[in-house]
Amino acid sequence: MAGQHAGYQNEIYLQGLADHVPPFTTDPTRLEDVARDRMEPGPFGYVSGGAGSGDTVLANRAAFARRRIVPRMLTDATTRDLSVTVLGTPMPAPVLLAPVGVQSIVHPDGELATARAAAALGVPMVLSTASSYSLEDVAEANGDGPRWFQLYWPNEPEVCASLLERAKRAGYSTLAVTLDTWTLAWRPRDLDQAYLPFLRATGVANAFTDPAFLAGLAKSPQEDQPMAVLRWVSMFTGTDKRWDQLPFLREHWDGPIVLKGIQHPDDARRAADAGMDGVVVSNHGGRQVDGAIAALDALPEIAAAVGDRLTVLFDSGVRTGADVLKALALGASAVLLGRPYVYGMALGGETGIRHVVRGVLADLDLTLGLSGHRTIADVGPDSLRHV
Ligand code: FNR
Repeated sequence: MAGQHAGYQNEIYLQGLADHVPPFTTDPTRLEDVARDRMEPGPFGYVSGGAGSGDTVLANRAAFARRRIVPRMLTDATTRDLSVTVLGTPMPAPVLLAPVGVQSIVHPDGELATARAAAALGVPMVLSTASSYSLEDVAEANGDGPRWFQLYWPNEPEVCASLLERAKRAGYSTLAVTLDTWTLAWRPRDLDQAYLPFLRATGVANAFTDPAFLAGLAKSPQEDQPMAVLRWVSMFTGTDKRWDQLPFLREHWDGPIVLKGIQHPDDARRAADAGMDGVVVSNHGGRQVDGAIAALDALPEIAAAVGDRLTVLFDSGVRTGADVLKALALGASAVLLGRPYVYGMALGGETGIRHVVRGVLADLDLTLGLSGHRTIADVGPDSLRHV
């Protein structure tokens, strides 16, 4: 297991002997800047932007800087094992690819590229309801790869049940229900360009292939696309759900269910009381509530409140291997990587995604070992100091 992921470092240095350098930067904190030059302004604004002033996007990163890893010496950490099993899904490291919608605005292959890259690395992907390819097509591209499905909860029960049935049939094992986006926040980067991909019929593939959705249309999407798009968009807008509606999801889903977007320990307790299997501590990458608490600052309290009852996952601001380690030390079982792999896709499609994800895993592997940990289970509160 030594160097299982860290081997990417050797691979890169060895290519240097033939005068080759990596095709894309190995510094995930630079990806946004590099991608800016390669992306159209609309898609770049959509991916990079946050709610309001962007304050929470910055806060997410700042919270990582306030926690520092305290390396330990002579721990025999040369042989490491990063593999974990989360909610029944074995993974090579505690990292999943976060659900990101409308990926075809970034690269024509969109979610198919993500599915192929994820499968090649054995890293689980979480497919968004708002994908640009149907969940069946993505499953096919993902092959034997582990995959979860993210649900934006539609206000028509028949459509919801149909989506869940399709996802189950297509081999998605865990359901992540996103609660924080029942309407879109005020997002100046998108508003300034009047850019909303859904209105351009991107990110509607699951609707346009859904029998229950199609049955509710007076005219097919081919005959009247604007009307079909409008019906799909309004199915997710202004439709905040209630805790007492969660049994509906349980009825229609056999596998584990996690609630994504949890930021208060009481909401995490309610998730546990409602019989959910996990939560994703997340503020949607600062895209929903401007001024919201940094996701990493919310994590320790939530882990303390429900860590013994629920699987606690984390996203929002993870960029480097050190970030992953910090989130694990604060109580997460695994993290979801978001924008970095999307920028990788912008730079090089499937190849770009693989490069970014391999880089994060290699960095995690090295950081884990150099700070004295042999396995993920060795990482704990004592691994960090709050400064
Ligand atoms: C997202 N996110 C998201 N979440 C979700 O549950 N369903 C979705 O369709 C999307 N779509 C989406 C699009 C784009 C462009 C971004 C950047 C994000 C949120 C995503 O899953 C995750 O919570 C954030 O990306 C985490 O923040 P960072 O680490 O990427 O900054």
